[in-house]
Amino acid sequence: MLTQDQLKLAVAKKALEFVPEDAVIGVGTGSTVNLFIEELATIKGRIKGAVSSSEASTARLKAHHIPVYDLNEVEKLAVYIDGADEINHYLHMIKGGGAALTREKIVAGAADEFICIADENKYVTMLGAFPLPIEVIPMARSYVARELVKLGGHPELRQGVTTDNGNVIVDVHGLKIMKPVELEEIINNIAGVVTCGLFARRRADVLLLGKQSGVEVIR
Ligand code: 5RP
Repeated sequence: MLTQDQLKLAVAKKALEFVPEDAVIGVGTGSTVNLFIEELATIKGRIKGAVSSSEASTARLKAHHIPVYDLNEVEKLAVYIDGADEINHYLHMIKGGGAALTREKIVAGAADEFICIADENKYVTMLGAFPLPIEVIPMARSYVARELVKLGGHPELRQGVTTDNGNVIVDVHGLKIMKPVELEEIINNIAGVVTCGLFARRRADVLLLGKQSGVEVIR
């Protein structure tokens, strides 16, 4: 029986097959991505560098002497590789467990292909058991929370967390997300919301799913 960490390592290794030669690639955030960065370091001579989705990943990439580019300096990102908190069979995701959702969504949006690396515990039939993270401008926190209650959720401020962009995270519990694309749009339209952790409008293109029987490639 493989542990969750061993499944994460398996998908991190598999992701190397999706790294194009001599390119700048997008790199996400989280414990699965941390393992991927370790693997990437073993082939770092084959890539130009990375665009990072968080200060934490930037520090790890730099520690391995992998060049980190500002997104504005890069014309093309062939792939973005990142984890997820939940993913369904349409490859819609909940992300933001690590509070990096806004930069993740920006880098993902700029990439031609989103490769999601996740262990089988993240694969769900309906999104929402994992509380939906939302990055909010601090002055709008209470207003946004009231609007989220109207949508049927139970918002909770993530204590002691300030994002890389200087904002707060509100985690919304109790949502049964039947229509992820629609809900993403509704939440993003609440004034004061910077980003909602639903990645449905820009879903993953490929899921590398770590299972007991091996890594399954789902498109
Ligand atoms: C960070 C994220 C991560 O991708 C997500 O939380 C998964 O993390 P992990 O690989 O540690 O399970 O969205 O904001």
